[in-house]
Amino acid sequence: MNEINFDLIDTTGEPPVSEPERQYYYIAKCRELVKLKSKELGRPLYSQTRTFGCQMNARDSEKLIGILEQIGYIETETATPDFVLYNTCTVRENANLKVYGHLGYLKKQKEKNKNMMIALCGCMMQEETVVEKIKSSYRFVDLVFGTHNIYKLAELIYDRLTYNKPVIEILKDTDAIVEELPIERKYPFKSGVNIMFGCNNFCSYCIVPYVRGRERSRKPEDIIKEIEKLVADGVVEIMLLGQNVNSYGKNLDEEITFAELLRRVEQIEGLKRIRFMTSHPKDLSDELIEVMKHSKKICKQLHLPLQSGSSRILKIMNRQYDKDRYVSLAKKIRQEIPDIALSTDIIVGFPGETEEDFLETLDVVNQIEYDSAYTFIYSKRTGTPAAKMENQVPEDVIKDRFDRLLARIHEISNAQTLKHVGKTYDVLVEEVNEHNKELVTGRMSNGSLVHFKGGKELIGNIVNVTLNEAKGFYYLGTMEE
Ligand code: SAH
Ligand code: SF4
Ligand code: F3S
Repeated sequence: MNEINFDLIDTTGEPPVSEPERQYYYIAKCRELVKLKSKELGRPLYSQTRTFGCQMNARDSEKLIGILEQIGYIETETATPDFVLYNTCTVRENANLKVYGHLGYLKKQKEKNKNMMIALCGCMMQEETVVEKIKSSYRFVDLVFGTHNIYKLAELIYDRLTYNKPVIEILKDTDAIVEELPIERKYPFKSGVNIMFGCNNFCSYCIVPYVRGRERSRKPEDIIKEIEKLVADGVVEIMLLGQNVNSYGKNLDEEITFAELLRRVEQIEGLKRIRFMTSHPKDLSDELIEVMKHSKKICKQLHLPLQSGSSRILKIMNRQYDKDRYVSLAKKIRQEIPDIALSTDIIVGFPGETEEDFLETLDVVNQIEYDSAYTFIYSKRTGTPAAKMENQVPEDVIKDRFDRLLARIHEISNAQTLKHVGKTYDVLVEEVNEHNKELVTGRMSNGSLVHFKGGKELIGNIVNVTLNEAKGFYYLGTMEE
């Protein structure tokens, strides 16, 4: 991708109609404007991107930063930015509130730097009420777009710069998957790779299908081509991304299963590790378990969201599996792939959840003994079916259940962690330790972090490390020669 020389693109005529050529044209156009501005100010222009939410948003931000850098902005965390971009999340109310909090701060920043442009994008912007609120109460925001048109960033910036009024463009949904745009990766040695966009599951509590649109799979050959390029560029670990990777390929002309895609990705020479997320229990096939069991590259880690252990609640949540089916699936996976780390997501306080329902959740936690679990307090999302349910659980009851669940999860994951102490594992070195510069931090195949003595030259390498001590969320270890 970085081969394109945007200075050589002809910007004198009309913009091309087809993508990605149209965006190349607008990148080149913006590049000219940024150069002029930079000359006028006698300094480079800086951008600052903040990302909220999940891995999909993190990957989207790499695409956005890729475009910003080609336009001529230097991404910074320290300098006062000229272009601020918030890539937002709305999965729970508190993700949403955080953004409004930050906007108050940005308003003051903009008063100090008149050149500053403020842009908001991502899932939260797909909600009409949010956009209305921004239009009426946050008029200093320059650019608002959603999840379906992030590839158009350059075109939107160009419009903002030339017409000198706020630009708001939200698309309801899209079929488009625009390939071959610039991407600026956060890590040189690992990368996320989208295999699909959107979600069709409509779990009754969840806003994602409304803000991310219908499920669309990328073609396997495009995915493989992207990974091959990444590997040629030094990447050794990839994370395949989708809201429900197990239904990958269902809408393609040539149907293909997720397990088959994994088989093909495994063949890529030079690639060392494969991760994926998220795996919906309802579509997890025996074929996938088989592929994971025999793979040399797929990491020993599976995130299998439970949400609730009560079959009654699972039904109202529209999860399409019940307690027994989940438990037998998780047990089968543990049996077939004994050294796998299982993690999960659990929601506490879904409307109508009784003490009995909650005890069912605790029972699954006790049976499956998760290596780690993310617990969330149910958050009412306007527009979802669950938001209209009348029997919301009182806050103090939720808080009590949440604390009990968390305590049990900690006990179990501490016990799970201890099992690995004394053993040696391969570890991908990710960074120099923040607190102690003599240590580096690496990640095991099962996702755990380990700190050990070493220098920055190890970053990006896979080394053998013996675990000496478990410290809760991480280990201390020693590298083997
Ligand atoms: N596609 C993934 C989940 C993406 S959202 C899957 O189905 O597993 C990540 C997590 O946020 C979910 O697993 C769920 O536990 C949590 N979540 C989603 N909506 C929520 C809500 N309204 N309140 C609380 N937690 C929620
Ligand atoms: Fe939300 Fe369910 Fe889709 Fe996951 S599968 S994103 S929880 S609707
Ligand atoms: Fe949030 Fe959107 Fe991801 S709502 S969790 S950023 S898909």
